[in-house]
Amino acid sequence: MFETDSVWEYSMADRLKFGPGAVQELPAEIERLGGGTVLIVTDEGVRDAGIVDTVVETFPADLRYEIFDDVEPDPSAALFDRAARYADEVDPDVVVGIGGGSSIDVGKAASLLSTHGGEVLDYVAQPTGEGQPIPGPTTPYVAVPTTAGTGSESTSVAVVSLPEQDLKVGISDRHLFPDLSVVDPALTVSLPPAPTAYSGLDALSHAIEGYTTRRFDAKERPDSPADRPDYGGRNLLSDTLCRQAIELVGDNLRRAVNNGEDLDARRNMSLGATMAALGFSNAGLGAAHALAYPVASEHHTAHGLTVALLLPEVMRYNATSAPERYAEVARLLGKQADGLDRRGLAAVGVTEDELPRFAADTMQLQRLLVGNPRRMDADDVEGIFRRSL
Ligand SMILES: [Fe+2]
Repeated sequence: MFETDSVWEYSMADRLKFGPGAVQELPAEIERLGGGTVLIVTDEGVRDAGIVDTVVETFPADLRYEIFDDVEPDPSAALFDRAARYADEVDPDVVVGIGGGSSIDVGKAASLLSTHGGEVLDYVAQPTGEGQPIPGPTTPYVAVPTTAGTGSESTSVAVVSLPEQDLKVGISDRHLFPDLSVVDPALTVSLPPAPTAYSGLDALSHAIEGYTTRRFDAKERPDSPADRPDYGGRNLLSDTLCRQAIELVGDNLRRAVNNGEDLDARRNMSLGATMAALGFSNAGLGAAHALAYPVASEHHTAHGLTVALLLPEVMRYNATSAPERYAEVARLLGKQADGLDRRGLAAVGVTEDELPRFAADTMQLQRLLVGNPRRMDADDVEGIFRRSL
């Protein structure tokens, strides 16, 4: 018999530090985590923007550090393993990931694999990977985001691309929560308008999907508490975080895109993205994130942009299942969506003949679809894709 759950849980990084200048406190935090040798995991763009320099300039002269700056967007399993081998050589005492979601995810894996060995696919769920559980704590890890969107610094997930299979998979394990997240909005000031917009739309999508995902007590009670899923369903705490995030992103995303140096807008975007991540990472997501995966794998479109192009039609499809929720989303966003041009997936090169395959691929992503407030089969998904063209 289907017995509904009556308990929800909440997990996050061990500690979160937020505010302009927070990154200046990194040396003290590294010391607190045991000091020694630091491995910085980042990408060339972040390094070229001078952000890595800003960070290491705060380090005392005797702090030893090495930099791995080869992270690419949509990092592949091979790249994860390359970072891990580098970490083996450095043998760090603390790992610091600096960048967008890709760098922070690769940093999580460097901390994991340098502690417990093996390859990234060992920890990816079966059948793609070996599905090994992470045996214990990993090298202390500090996540420092330079965008306001993905929220990877607040989650226990690392997304791994398998380009030869056009597939994205994830490792999800409590041991992947950072020991510390340092969210310093000043680091996002140099982010150009397009990535600011895309990452901000990702945050908005997290907040909306987290706010409308199925409730924790609409889910089945697990046989054992350990089997309760990370995406446990929304509850009043995640709702509160997501509502505030919708408002913050709605009020500040245009300002941050139009004037990157508007520190007030940047701070509110970083806060909104952080709150959205703290909400969705416990509540769950919905169909827009599921439908976005096959499109982004095929067309190499930015994650936030892809999700945002699909979200309107997903919301239209879902509206009848949670009308009061979507009305509240509209209220929190005000009338700001009125009169805007509507652009769809055709703008990023998606064609009609791809849609049946995308629909089939989407149906594989049950971990995301299970939270969607309205059930959907492959025909429904294909319909949403069609209306999103
Ligand atoms: Fe996302």
